[in-house]
Amino acid sequence: MCRSMKSISRFVIIFSILSVIFFYVIVNYFNSSQAGLSNQIVWTDGLSNNRRELIGVSEVQSNEELLSLQNYGELGSRLHMYKNSMQGSQIVLAVVACGDRLSETLVMIKSAILFTQKPLNIIVLADDPLIASFKEKLNVWRTSTNHSFTYKVLPITFPLQGNTDEWRKLFKPCASQRLFLPTVLSDVDSLLYVDTDTLFLGPLEDVWRHFDLMNASQMAALTPEHEDPNTGWYNRFAKHPYYGRLGVNSGVMLMNLTRMRAFSWTNYVVPIYKEYKLKITWGDQDIINIIFHFHPDKLYVYPCRYNYRPDHCMYMSVCKSAESQGIAVLHGSRGSFHAEKQPAFRAIYRAMEEYQLGTDLYVNLFSTMRNYLELTTSTNCGKIQHIFTKAMQHFIQKTYGR
Ligand SMILES: *[C@@H]1O[C@H](CO)[C@@H](O)[C@H](O)[C@H]1NC(C)=O
Ligand SMILES: *[C@@H]1O[C@H](CO)[C@@H](O)[C@H](O)[C@H]1NC(C)=O
Ligand SMILES: *[C@@H]1O[C@H](CO)[C@@H](O)[C@H](O)[C@H]1NC(C)=O
Repeated sequence: MCRSMKSISRFVIIFSILSVIFFYVIVNYFNSSQAGLSNQIVWTDGLSNNRRELIGVSEVQSNEELLSLQNYGELGSRLHMYKNSMQGSQIVLAVVACGDRLSETLVMIKSAILFTQKPLNIIVLADDPLIASFKEKLNVWRTSTNHSFTYKVLPITFPLQGNTDEWRKLFKPCASQRLFLPTVLSDVDSLLYVDTDTLFLGPLEDVWRHFDLMNASQMAALTPEHEDPNTGWYNRFAKHPYYGRLGVNSGVMLMNLTRMRAFSWTNYVVPIYKEYKLKITWGDQDIINIIFHFHPDKLYVYPCRYNYRPDHCMYMSVCKSAESQGIAVLHGSRGSFHAEKQPAFRAIYRAMEEYQLGTDLYVNLFSTMRNYLELTTSTNCGKIQHIFTKAMQHFIQKTYGR
């Protein structure tokens, strides 16, 4: 009796010791695997391409598991960080569409879906009457492209401070919405904002990679408004401060919303609007110019091929980056996708509008576009038609080997 009590207590002691050792080993194992995880992130951060691939793969495997683990103390918060860093592997495209911009916006979105191979998340902020139409079309495209993108269609909203009606009317209907994206999309880290009158002529990855080229203080990327002081608008006419020598165009904007929130971007917008409202001509673009005039270190300027407008070719070809690498994003400013004045811009839009997603890119888009451009060679922009299709040609060669 006494003996068996002894052996039981001995067993309990040994069991306890073993448990402690076992526990210790387990804890160490978890710590070291965490360290491995975070090292991997740090290590890959400098190598943009590898990082994307690496993280992209893990995302598919374990996003759900990671989410369910988030409440588990330190390990959970590490995983949360890991998940946030994976958000960087998807491309977020945002557009604000109101009034009669439905079809133009859809053509732009089509061009984005077409060239993007990374996970693409599309955010449309739309006037109430357009919301249902956007949802319907995007749903059809999502099905027909084998779920190659995700999307959200949200109503236009403004922060409560300030006069909402006044904001709505500033410049074109609802263009000022974009100034409030850091607040309105509070759970989004970064996005590529484009005006509705833009078209992608090459992969979005090519635009998005500029996030990796920004330094720690830069929170947005924009292109110069002009390349040449003789034709510049801001340097000749503006009655308010603007960025740099010639100002910036806001049609294609990479926005790191995390950094913009840290900067309290929205708190700058309202006072600047109040101070300059009688002096501004181009609405939200002027406000952006004024803010970056006072904070030039926060802006990264990328080349004109990311926001190519009629100004770049209507008199003579002034955008060197487009000449060498082709246009990445075409911006049909001043209605040039729809009017007669810039036939080359109209030709591109027409080809993209007619193209059906999922059909042969080479025959139905590339060749058609070239044929339409061929008819515009009597214009200055048409004379340099190869720069419109160069990025696409490169994409097709790389992707389909044609
Ligand atoms: C659709 O996507 C799934 C996985 O995402 C893939 O297995 C399948 O082959 C794709 N189908 C087509 C027709 O591309
Ligand atoms: C945006 O900035 C935050 C904070 O600096 C950073 O963690 C994040 O990686 C940046 N996003 C992108 C896409 O570069
Ligand atoms: C980022 O670049 C800008 C422009 O070159 C510069 O003014 C700023 O000091 C840089 N910031 C950092 C943290 O290097």
